[in-house]
Amino acid sequence: MRFFIKNYGCQMNSYDSQRITDILAHAGHEIANSSEAANIVVLNTCSIREKVDEKIFSDLGRIREMKKEYAKDFIIVVAGCMAQTRSSDILRRAPYVDVILGPHNIHQLAKIIDKIVNSKSSDVVMSTAANVGSKFPQSSDMLFERGVSEFITIQEGCNNFCSYCIVPYTRGREFSRSVLDIRTEIKNLVSLGVKEITLLGQNVNSYEGVGLDGKRCSFSRLLFELANISGLKRLCYMTSNPKDVNLDIAIAHKEIKILTPSLHLPVQSGSDSVLKRMNRRYTTDEYARRVEMLRAHRPDLALSSDFIVGFPGESDADFQQTLELVKNIGYAQAYSFKYSPRKGTAAAQMDNQIPENVKSERLRTLQNLLDNQQSRFNQNFIGQHVNVLFTKKGKHEKQLTGRSEYSQSVSVATGVAMGTIAKVKITEVASHSLIGVVVP
Ligand code: SAH
Ligand code: SF4
Ligand code: F3S
Repeated sequence: MRFFIKNYGCQMNSYDSQRITDILAHAGHEIANSSEAANIVVLNTCSIREKVDEKIFSDLGRIREMKKEYAKDFIIVVAGCMAQTRSSDILRRAPYVDVILGPHNIHQLAKIIDKIVNSKSSDVVMSTAANVGSKFPQSSDMLFERGVSEFITIQEGCNNFCSYCIVPYTRGREFSRSVLDIRTEIKNLVSLGVKEITLLGQNVNSYEGVGLDGKRCSFSRLLFELANISGLKRLCYMTSNPKDVNLDIAIAHKEIKILTPSLHLPVQSGSDSVLKRMNRRYTTDEYARRVEMLRAHRPDLALSSDFIVGFPGESDADFQQTLELVKNIGYAQAYSFKYSPRKGTAAAQMDNQIPENVKSERLRTLQNLLDNQQSRFNQNFIGQHVNVLFTKKGKHEKQLTGRSEYSQSVSVATGVAMGTIAKVKITEVASHSLIGVVVP
């Protein structure tokens, strides 16, 4: 059959979609370029905010029309985080779905499809049991071609229970893969031509997989264990929880050459009382001190963050403190969101939910400030040299685009091959990207 995967949500989902691609291709199915050209459609879903959920239900309605045309030989799979937490809503609102698959069950998909095809049954197949670990690849079933920059999940799940967040309910408790598994997967990827690896986890700093010596290995130790993989040019990671950043990680940033000087360290809010109710378990002071420690070891570190505005009870004064924090810390880039109540989380029950118009206004103000900050950060690079890993074609003919070590998008007109790292002199700064020329 021909399959198409639509991916929603974070990089962990992108990694899972890649896994699903490998598994289905390994079982003899072909990749289709669009849902119209497919007869297996997989929606790999996210549930982080209400808007994403609603988009998925509307996409399902559209795919249903295609199923009607193809009649029986059309399989709709809802996989991922929404499948895990909202299976009964999916059954009620989209009873024509054939498979509901939690994020830990994706490796079963090829067998499930075989079963559906052979049995001709129209009953929905549901698999959402938590069996983290089994979904990760054996070297023999990674056969699919890769780009030059790839993600790999080193840790799944979250034990933090930030009061607004659905993830502990969708991905379950923390599970860390072993150092050997991670090294093997990275070596395989490098042999396929991958140059840059981003290690993924909801909470990478609390990684504690089995080390090469059989003992528990910390995250900073893991970074050192991966630093010497031959052919690996760049190592990145996300996401770090500020409460778990320690000196060893700062030292890793100083000592490991291939570790990029960019760090996603989401602060969420600049108000201590909001952070407390979010259950983030750090204060703004602690956050600032950790940033200082990191910058002391790696002065050029480019920081990025996530922010939530309009968390229950957030006053104007709380919000002003967020703006202050942004000005004081200085970010290279950031994402910001309106708080979205998620059923089953603690914050959804809190008093003083903030009206939509206030959230929108605060979001606009914050995004303006962050945009200006990003532009200023980028402007400082005019005339400077950065190292760019070229990963894709640019918007214009012959143009290539890639990312600097500071995670900026950089384009050049000519003079370089895809998949290589080249020194680039920055000549222009567009809104969120840089333009430069390759330095011979
Ligand atoms: N593990 C990461 C974040 C994962 S979710 C961390 O701890 O930072 C990615 C981002 O989505 C979060 O950083 C947060 O800013 C945002 N987010 C999570 N739940 C949300 C909600 N209910 N409403 C709005 N934004 C949310
Ligand atoms: Fe969600 Fe908090 Fe866990 Fe991040 S650390 S995934 S925000 S509960
Ligand atoms: Fe979304 Fe699940 Fe990632 S809820 S953000 S896809 S962990």
